[in-house]
Amino acid sequence: TQAFEYRANQLFAEDVAVKDIHAQYGSPCYIYSRAAFENHFMAYENALTDVPHLVCYAVKANSNIAVLNILSKLGAGFDIVSVGELERVVAAGGDASKVVFSGVAKTEAEIKRALELGIYCFNAESDAELDRINKVAGEQGKTADISLRVNPDVDAKTHPYISTGLKENKFGISVDHAIACYQRAHAMEHLNVVGMDCHIGSQLTEIQPFIDAMDRLLMLIDALAEQGIIIKHLDLGGGLGVVYDDEQPPAVADFIDAIKQRVEGRNLKLIFEPGRSIAANAGIMTTQVEFLKPTEHKNFAIIDGAMNDLLRPSLYGAWQAIVPVSIRPDAEQDKKLWDLVGPVCETGDFLGKDRELDLQPGDLLAVKSAGAYGFTMSSNYNSRNRAAEIMVDGDKVHLIRQRETIEHQLTGEQLINE
Ligand code: LLP
Repeated sequence: TQAFEYRANQLFAEDVAVKDIHAQYGSPCYIYSRAAFENHFMAYENALTDVPHLVCYAVKANSNIAVLNILSKLGAGFDIVSVGELERVVAAGGDASKVVFSGVAKTEAEIKRALELGIYCFNAESDAELDRINKVAGEQGKTADISLRVNPDVDAKTHPYISTGLKENKFGISVDHAIACYQRAHAMEHLNVVGMDCHIGSQLTEIQPFIDAMDRLLMLIDALAEQGIIIKHLDLGGGLGVVYDDEQPPAVADFIDAIKQRVEGRNLKLIFEPGRSIAANAGIMTTQVEFLKPTEHKNFAIIDGAMNDLLRPSLYGAWQAIVPVSIRPDAEQDKKLWDLVGPVCETGDFLGKDRELDLQPGDLLAVKSAGAYGFTMSSNYNSRNRAAEIMVDGDKVHLIRQRETIEHQLTGEQLINE
């Protein structure tokens, strides 16, 4: 069964009517399906059972500790980009020895904490970062396991803001410089070279760019082997796309099969860092219609969810389906085109434009595919409290993050008293 589906014109999250969750917790609210998180993660695990592997869920997609805990119980590793994400993994009972640490500028304090916890590997992105990791590891009397993020210069054919594997992007080390960089790392006293990684972008809907990237990395791995530098794991990052609208991304199993074929016969452990393909369609965000404001030019529906709650439409022009939580029997006759705009004081504050809907004030809507890069990108702009997060598990509803209050927001601020 689907995680979110209609039963008798009511949208359900697993076995719970979304309107009942709203009655208790209000809106806007993020609602997740435990089964969806588990199924999406297991699609990777099941496709990889016959090869050495580690699936490191990209924490940035959805970092609620209940989410991390659910995935950790299935054996997940984690891809982190800050000590904050690392502490979340720890708080969620995750296994630090399955953590890969990505990101272009890890601080000394972050490196120190990661070494203390004994993470799996640092995905280093520059010569300067290698120096820093080597220094901190030396001070701690430790050796840091290192992978270098190679920028393979392939076009991921996705939105420019979420494309990361082109040579003009800030990420990783160029193919031309990679060998020299590996030699340096190999020679450093407190580093132990173990892997190679890349991440070419997000919301990819084709397999080919992954294969192209991988082929470039495999050539480097062979060249390094000739110099006695043995790469033990290949980390292909995240990036597999999902269906928001009419995209046709490859199924996880097909994607993994294509990759496995390419490494057959090699002694390489495969690591993946999926975020969106696990989280996006495991969540929705609910929002209520406050006012209808039809004008000569546009019909505006002003809703209680805004760009601070869900930034993707404003930031990337991203399209996410918006559906009624309760379908009125005569809805078909009363549909109009609406722009769904939030209360934030910005023209760019919209969740959807020209959506064909039958709307009345007070109606509850669900923005679909909101489980990834939804809550994690939310902010307090306009001093709005961040939304509540709910995890549905069968017929059980768990509050996994209470709605923020103004007290939460004011914590840490003070008057200068002069
Ligand atoms: N690994 C690394 C090093 C990454 O930078 C990312 C995402 C991932 C893994 C996970 O990628 P995924 O499987 O989720 O595509 N905020 C944007 C997406 C930014 C992705 C950044 N990096 C959005 O809402 O579309």
